Amino acid sequence: MENNGKIRAIVTGVGMYVPDKILDNAFFEKIVDTNDEWIRTRTGIRERRMLENGATSDLATKAAEDLLKSKNMSADEIDVIIVATVTPNMFFPATACLVQDNIGAKNAWGFDLSAACSGFLFAFQTGCSLIESGKYKKVMVIGADKMTSITDYTDRNNCILFGDAGAAVLLEPTEDQNLGMQDSLLKIDGSGKEALNMKGGGSLNPPTHETVDNKLHYIFQDGKAVFKVAVKGMADISYEIMQKNKLTSEDISYLVPHQANLRIISATADRMGISQDKVMINIERYGNTTAATIPLCLVEYYRNGKIKKGDKLILSAFGAGYTWGAIYLVWAI
Ligand code: COA
Repeated sequence: MENNGKIRAIVTGVGMYVPDKILDNAFFEKIVDTNDEWIRTRTGIRERRMLENGATSDLATKAAEDLLKSKNMSADEIDVIIVATVTPNMFFPATACLVQDNIGAKNAWGFDLSAACSGFLFAFQTGCSLIESGKYKKVMVIGADKMTSITDYTDRNNCILFGDAGAAVLLEPTEDQNLGMQDSLLKIDGSGKEALNMKGGGSLNPPTHETVDNKLHYIFQDGKAVFKVAVKGMADISYEIMQKNKLTSEDISYLVPHQANLRIISATADRMGISQDKVMINIERYGNTTAATIPLCLVEYYRNGKIKKGDKLILSAFGAGYTWGAIYLVWAI
């Protein structure tokens, strides 16, 4: 166990938002050279959501409001808001500031965190550390991405993969050492920067007509290269955190994997010796929503009564950077 202090961080509330508009596989058959069967068998995706009007702050705000409503809690109580995203409304101010203003969290500070598909895990660890410090009592961690805003709908390799969503958890302290955040293993390796990125708009390639003409404001991905490292990275780190915490596959109630590709998820579950019925999966309905995938799974499974207090969960992700990691969490509500 990594945290031997007195305070542990537990999840005490959840919230989510997905836009109404659905892009099914038939939609992509009309705009690029692809077909439903290819998409389903290669990725596991049947449909994803698209936010037509609005930005990532709207996805994050609606998820935060859903959480507050379900807890019957005032936004004044929130100490910190962390938004994990790679599609912030703009470079600054941070999306966390926009969410703070929208929900009226007048006592909060906060910030955005950029770690692509591992964003929720990195934000979750950060939020837990703030709770464990003893200084903060209520930290809202939100994963939200409007991936459709950076998706090139002429690129069949990538456009079928991504969707929009926001989901949130509330972290609070407990002295019960057997609940909440138990351990994490988190990694970055910037040598993966060429395989998955968005080159335009930043200080390296400030926006010009040329950067737009060259489509530098869209996701670039070498799918095959990312697939290989993602399978190994996610499977290895998930297995490693089990070993480190002396967990057998029977001990684990659920693997909560980032939803990028069903084949990556299955490979991770296989490596851990976990059967498919103990893997949280909703990729077929939402595709890859980047920072939102893991909290979206947690909210849906919790609200469907599938997770209970004391359940041992392994959260696991791999994404651009490269970034990757796993978290061992005991569910507390
Ligand atoms: N419809 C039909 N054919 C498609 C297609 C589509 N939407 N997209 C690609 N293809 C084609 C390719 O052009 C290729 O054709 P070719 O052999 O004639 O060149 C063929 O299908 C196989 O492509 P390949 O790249 O080998 O497929 P794949 O099995 O690796 O699956 C991805 C492609 C993108 C689904 C897969 O690589 C992947 O999921 N990568 C990781 C994505 C990811 O997780 N990213 C987020 C960060 S973790």
